[in-house]
Amino acid sequence: MRPYIVAGNWKMHMDPESGRALASEIAGELRRQPSANGVQTVLCPPFLTLPAVHEAIAGSGIGLGAQNLYPQDSGAFTGEVGPGMLTAVGCTHVILGHSERRQYFNESDEFINAKARKALAHGLHPIVCIGETLEQRESGVTESVIDTQLRGALTGISPDDMRSIILAYEPIWAIGTGRTATPEQAQEVHVFIRTLLAELHGGEIAGDIVIQYGGSVKADNAAELFAQPDVDGGLIGGASLKADQFLAIIRAAEASA
Ligand code: 13P
Repeated sequence: MRPYIVAGNWKMHMDPESGRALASEIAGELRRQPSANGVQTVLCPPFLTLPAVHEAIAGSGIGLGAQNLYPQDSGAFTGEVGPGMLTAVGCTHVILGHSERRQYFNESDEFINAKARKALAHGLHPIVCIGETLEQRESGVTESVIDTQLRGALTGISPDDMRSIILAYEPIWAIGTGRTATPEQAQEVHVFIRTLLAELHGGEIAGDIVIQYGGSVKADNAAELFAQPDVDGGLIGGASLKADQFLAIIRAAEASA
């Protein structure tokens, strides 16, 4: 059975000092009362805060994720960060293709695919984000958008590697807006994603892949989202910056698992 994974995407918040404090609070609580039912937690701070968070979560079972990488091992790529640098500071995961990167940095499905392959080659678990805009939803093309993003991001990835991938369905209209998808809306798209995965890689692999929901997940709506059979945890933005709220979301996942 696939696990639940709750990941905090800190975006461009938390310098090393404040990140260490937040991670220590979360890790302290999870050391005191480890997650039940196989729920996994991942923290994804900005690059510069990764080492401080790595120290703070030692021995807590929490995974460490970056928010991006450049798909080359090394070279003349001023300002970029490669996958080996991420594993060197303790990363286990990396968020790829977040809608903010697609929107503000023009990331294409092809580029995200190159990043995913590079991450896998370095033993990182990519958290690949997909999701439609409000305009796309209202014009009825959500499924075709998801289809294109998913096929594009996963091109050429072997069945074995597919098992290392985590998908995050993040409808853009729900990110940072306080307007979350209803549990039914989330479940509907998650089923579409899983059906497509089954078509591409077979039912067994499709059944094992974690599909997170992201977009205004809070302590008070997490339980109903996680209760959906195909919602396997969440990618949390704003609510991951407050230890008590993030921990409540983790506990909600434990209750659903
Ligand atoms: P919010 O939880 O702040 O809506 O952000 C979601 C998100 O983008 C996580 O990657």
